[in-house]
Amino acid sequence: QSPLPHHFLSVTDTSEDEARAIFEGVARQKRAGNTNNEEDLPLLGQSWALLFRKPSTRTRVSFELAIRQLGGSTLFLSAAELQLSRGEPMEDTARVLGRMVQGAVIRTFAQEEIVAFAKSSGIPTVNALTDQEHPCQVLADIFTFEEKRGPIAGKTVAFLGDASCNVARSWALAAPLFRFHLRFGAPRAFFCDVENPWVTQTESPEEAVRGADLLYTDVWISMGKEEESAVREKAFSAYQLNSRLLRRAKAEALVLHCLPAHRGKEIEGELFEERAGDIFDQAENRLHVQKGLLRWLVGRSERVQ
Ligand code: CP
Ligand code: NVA
Repeated sequence: QSPLPHHFLSVTDTSEDEARAIFEGVARQKRAGNTNNEEDLPLLGQSWALLFRKPSTRTRVSFELAIRQLGGSTLFLSAAELQLSRGEPMEDTARVLGRMVQGAVIRTFAQEEIVAFAKSSGIPTVNALTDQEHPCQVLADIFTFEEKRGPIAGKTVAFLGDASCNVARSWALAAPLFRFHLRFGAPRAFFCDVENPWVTQTESPEEAVRGADLLYTDVWISMGKEEESAVREKAFSAYQLNSRLLRRAKAEALVLHCLPAHRGKEIEGELFEERAGDIFDQAENRLHVQKGLLRWLVGRSERVQ
């Protein structure tokens, strides 16, 4: 739970009803096309900071565009170029930004850092990935599943590879909220630490994917884990998402990947290309869903002020 109501720091920061309302709005917007409606600019007059300590393609581009398309302007701030890199505390950075901009999107290492930012800045704060969670990704992933296959409630999602990573943890936290079954297929040393009745874990990739409606994977070496590359490549080699495992899933199973993809590592190259249509729809949905998320966040923040 986030300490303040007007942030999106964890995938559990929306109720299921709120997430559903966001999804309905996004589906409506997608049907209507992306024409900028000048009367529909909830971020008009606002400036938002994007503060990133790690590289990004999708999250950065989709948030910069989402904010601008909703009428706001953006400032991209690489942590390496801020006084943060010379030891200025995040709390002080937050207090400065809180007086100058109206919202912040942050990608960093420790989850505690964005919690501290949110508390000290007093402005709506969005988690654009930490070591513990990637909530915007999983919200867009669930939207993508439902857009292509209908309600996710009661369905089985199989996640292969690094079940201890941020994306996996957000999937595990989302499972009770959206009531889908999540099966991790991972080496025991990389099991997920989020436990709830909707999550099961197995060291058998075959067992994980059996009868699944969605097969999902993420990189084996997350940002910040580069020193563990050799150990991880060895540990995950049996957990590649490939056509052999896909045959054990439901015939209509969807294959998604949050990207960036490493062909021949976490996903077989041929399978990736075969399913690229869905995977790049998933990437595009980051933009649409984040626009919905920002609308919700700004609307809610106005109500609590
Ligand atoms: N999937 C995702 O968050 O990609 P980026 O690291 O490129 O933002
Ligand atoms: N688990 C990956 C996700 C990249 C979008 C990482 O943290 O690098």
